[in-house]
Amino acid sequence: MIQFKLKRRLPYKPTERMNVVSYPIRDIVMEAKREEAKGKKMIYLNIGDPPQYGFKPFRVIAERVKSALDENCQGYAPSEGDEQLRKNVAKIEKCKPEDVFVVGGLTEGIDFFFHSFIGFGEKVLLPNPTYPLYISKAKQFEGDTVFYRHDAHGQIDVANLSRKIEGAKAIIIINPNNPLGAVYSEQNLAEVIHLCSEYDVPIFYDGSYDKLTLEGKQVDFRQLAKKRVPFIYGSSLSKVFNYPGARIGWVAFHGDKWADVKNAFFLLCNQRLSVNWEYQKAAAAAIVDRSYPAYLTEVKKNLLERRDAFISIAGKLPISFPVPKGAFYAFIKLESKKWQKDIQFVRAALKEGVVFVPGSGFGRQEDGVYFRTTFLPEPEIIEEAFEKIRKIL
Ligand SMILES: Cc1ncc(COP(=O)(O)O)c(C=O)c1O
Repeated sequence: MIQFKLKRRLPYKPTERMNVVSYPIRDIVMEAKREEAKGKKMIYLNIGDPPQYGFKPFRVIAERVKSALDENCQGYAPSEGDEQLRKNVAKIEKCKPEDVFVVGGLTEGIDFFFHSFIGFGEKVLLPNPTYPLYISKAKQFEGDTVFYRHDAHGQIDVANLSRKIEGAKAIIIINPNNPLGAVYSEQNLAEVIHLCSEYDVPIFYDGSYDKLTLEGKQVDFRQLAKKRVPFIYGSSLSKVFNYPGARIGWVAFHGDKWADVKNAFFLLCNQRLSVNWEYQKAAAAAIVDRSYPAYLTEVKKNLLERRDAFISIAGKLPISFPVPKGAFYAFIKLESKKWQKDIQFVRAALKEGVVFVPGSGFGRQEDGVYFRTTFLPEPEIIEEAFEKIRKIL
């Protein structure tokens, strides 16, 4: 149930509720389309949409969707998810199928999590910078957003977190992190888990990019956290299978804290009936397919090449950013003092024909002006884009 603050219980227009809903990654597209309508060619670097930049989805998904079209799955799927998909996710998660819920992309899982777990004024710890949906959902469900920092090495700043954690209802961890591209080490995660267990704070772990570690070791968070702290692990077909249009994600509940929240998930799943069944069948096949590791190796090789090309192109400009060690974004700081506000810079870039996301969309940045880009496109496109913005930097 949405709980509105008392002052908002007065009659309000439904559209007024929208003042808390924002998604900077796409909101900027409206402005870009206006430029495009004037005849400007735009390069879209605002969104991490791999197929847009030539990354082919994992082959098994389309194949299985086609064969599923001939099966008896034109009706509504079970609300909580296709049975086989839940079983296969449970195998990977090492939990019970009943602990798995299939959602319309992890986006819906995040929405359901806030809806079912975060009440008015309850503290939610978010990384800074964070994926913008978490800020928007915390606002929508009237949680109290508190940001924790990263240290100079892109690790979770545990000392900073320990000053903020008391009384928190939940902590969000995104690893690899969007937008920073940070990948947390085993030791860093172990320290965070220890802190969370001391303060009895459950974790929502966003593993949207969990297989896309480009440098360093990929840590299995589930193994580290199991039995130490209650957590929810979420992922989807969008990034690690390069199929965001499938709109298939899942969340797995770990630990014994979640009975009420799982009930709430059931109700929320019932309310929206079901997720596309053919794509669930495809997901069930894809996530356990034997050819996936070879596919993933190829994807990571391409990503690494694009990241390195990006670093050498962007590295020549008066900007700075931590080297992305995972996912496919860079969170960039302007080194010149030309721009006071990120939105002014992003609008100037739009006029030049390049679409970025303002850094403040990922949380307030105290020490400068930031924007986020994806490095997914081919080097020639990145080159063209950064050449266009050179003169406004
Ligand atoms: C960190 C993170 N979490 C969740 C999502 C949502 O992804 P989807 O709903 O496509 O699974 C995204 C999408 O960009 C993301 O970057």
